[in-house]
Amino acid sequence: MKVVITESEKNMGIQAANLIAEEIRKNPDAVLSLSTGATPVGCYKELIRLYEEQGLDFGNVKSFNMDEYAGLSKDHAQGFYYFMYKQLYEHVNIDLKNTFSPDAVNENLAESIQKFEMLIEQEGGFDLILLGIGRDGHIAFNMPDRELKLSTHVQELSESTMNDNARFFDDKSQVPNKAITVGVKNIMDSRKIVLIASGEAKSDIMARFISSDSISPDLPATVLKLHPDVTVIMDKAAAGKLNGTY
Ligand code: PGA
Repeated sequence: MKVVITESEKNMGIQAANLIAEEIRKNPDAVLSLSTGATPVGCYKELIRLYEEQGLDFGNVKSFNMDEYAGLSKDHAQGFYYFMYKQLYEHVNIDLKNTFSPDAVNENLAESIQKFEMLIEQEGGFDLILLGIGRDGHIAFNMPDRELKLSTHVQELSESTMNDNARFFDDKSQVPNKAITVGVKNIMDSRKIVLIASGEAKSDIMARFISSDSISPDLPATVLKLHPDVTVIMDKAAAGKLNGTY
């Protein structure tokens, strides 16, 4: 794993955006999987700047949400597809027909999962996945558990994740307790993986993740240690507890 520590959160976003832009320039048909949450916002701002000022072309890019809350539609203000639409898609020349997320309002979630897996397969998997990391080490919504699921599945959300995500809702009672998420094989099949982390609140998990010399379902991000092309970009605050052994 390549580990990059940046002076600021803004710089973390810029460096992540540069890797995504490099992928798009090299491969205009790139298939991306992009994350939601607070951490990637600066990265998407920079991608919009690169589009506006340097003509970074999203015209043939495909983009997959890696997860979605069960029950939230594509136009739900707290949903993850809507997040991607507001933070990136509506500002660049991506064709919305090329933007995908699991259908989380289908009463038959198993059917949504199957369709989503088929779509990922049709597109040949992800060229680049941009991951965040939860304070408990989750990637996408692959939570610490006795085992990690390989493919897209329904995940019950832990109390701590629901608490962390309550800030995006008016009220904690509105946070869905389940989500559809890609599995670790979807992530590991990506040609390139970029993981970003910022802020002091991520410093404990980053120290555990980076220093871990084993793979453990208790800390799902550790599976990334087996992938040949992972870049971890974190700001100084998230790197605050690293012990220099990376
Ligand atoms: P965050 O979420 O960017 O809002 O901290 C990270 C995650 O849960 O993957």
